[in-house]
Amino acid sequence: MAAAYLHDIGYAPGLAATGFHPLDGARHLRSFGEEDLARLVAHHTNAKHEAGLRGIEDYEDEFPFGGTLLDDALTFCDLSTSPDGQLVTIEDRLAEIVERYGPDHVVARTVLAGMPGFERGRERVRRHCAEAGVSL
Ligand SMILES: [Fe+2]
Repeated sequence: MAAAYLHDIGYAPGLAATGFHPLDGARHLRSFGEEDLARLVAHHTNAKHEAGLRGIEDYEDEFPFGGTLLDDALTFCDLSTSPDGQLVTIEDRLAEIVERYGPDHVVARTVLAGMPGFERGRERVRRHCAEAGVSL
């Protein structure tokens, strides 16, 4: 839940050192000793792909990707919520992102490249919730 609330904290003007919000947010959270939270924030919504597009070569050295159920859950929540807080499908969310940024922007390219992983993550989250008796 903390990662869900804080995943975009790197957009805060006072924290935007590099302009890449997952990295800026993760470094800020790490400064408080919140290593697990920092790693989740660093990798939300296929951020490692965007880091590569932005020329940040050592991203996973600084923040190793765990590939955990929590990583999938955070990205699933991010991509299931519209900018104004409505519940949406991942497909509709990606369409909105591509429309907002334009298809050539690194953010749009990142989410489009991430779709297979987002689909796998969605199924993993749904399966886990079903096993726990929680409906989505
Ligand atoms: Fe984000």
